[in-house]
Amino acid sequence: MNFVDEKVELYATAHSQQPSSLVKEINDWTVANSDASRMLSGALQGAVLQLLARMVKASRILEIGMFTGYSALTMAEVLPDDGQLITIDIDEEREAIANSFFSKSPHGSKITIRIDNALDVICDLDGPFDLVYIDADKSNYLNYYEAVMPLVCEGGVIVADNVLWSSSVLDPQTEDARSLHEFNARVSADERVMNVLLTIRDGLMVAQKIHS
Ligand SMILES: C[S@@+](CC[C@H](N)C(=O)[O-])C[C@H]1O[C@@H](n2cnc3c(N)ncnc32)[C@H](O)[C@@H]1O
Repeated sequence: MNFVDEKVELYATAHSQQPSSLVKEINDWTVANSDASRMLSGALQGAVLQLLARMVKASRILEIGMFTGYSALTMAEVLPDDGQLITIDIDEEREAIANSFFSKSPHGSKITIRIDNALDVICDLDGPFDLVYIDADKSNYLNYYEAVMPLVCEGGVIVADNVLWSSSVLDPQTEDARSLHEFNARVSADERVMNVLLTIRDGLMVAQKIHS
């Protein structure tokens, strides 16, 4: 769900950083071949992710929820040549699809795919990460947030997608809506971070770690 008038959103997208031709190709392939293309982060959010990565001078990024690789490649494109992006997905069918795009990009070698349950992978990772993008199963957002927090460097950012869940967090009636509402409440009360909940697309939480 978008909260902004569609024409206004199109105008904002047109006047923001544009996705690369390969990222556009991922978008078009996904729309044509997947019935879950609504899960794509999209151009406007992609521009936000790229800008945030550049602003924190990210050299290591962790993504939870890869899907067909749209946001992973978007962020990898602004990493330095020796930068690294680890992206996790539980669905093993996603690996070959995402790799078919990553292998065509000069930035693909920065990306490492981990196919497994995200919480298990995170336990196995060493920090520091400059940016973590949470975009997987909604009921685990708080678990992901707490699991990655020790791995995020001071000044690093945690970004979480879909935190308004089509505005259902205002009156949560489902497990996902309750989990996301609890996540938003906990992040906004967390003294380790400064945060803003942006009403971009389905809601984007941005939290910068200010101390441990
Ligand atoms: C919204 S999509 C990610 C979209 C992607 N960031 C993009 O912009 O194209 C969510 C992904 O999270 C994955 N996922 C769901 N539960 C997971 C889990 N427990 N561990 C790892 N990945 C999971 C799904 O398989 C799905 O591909």
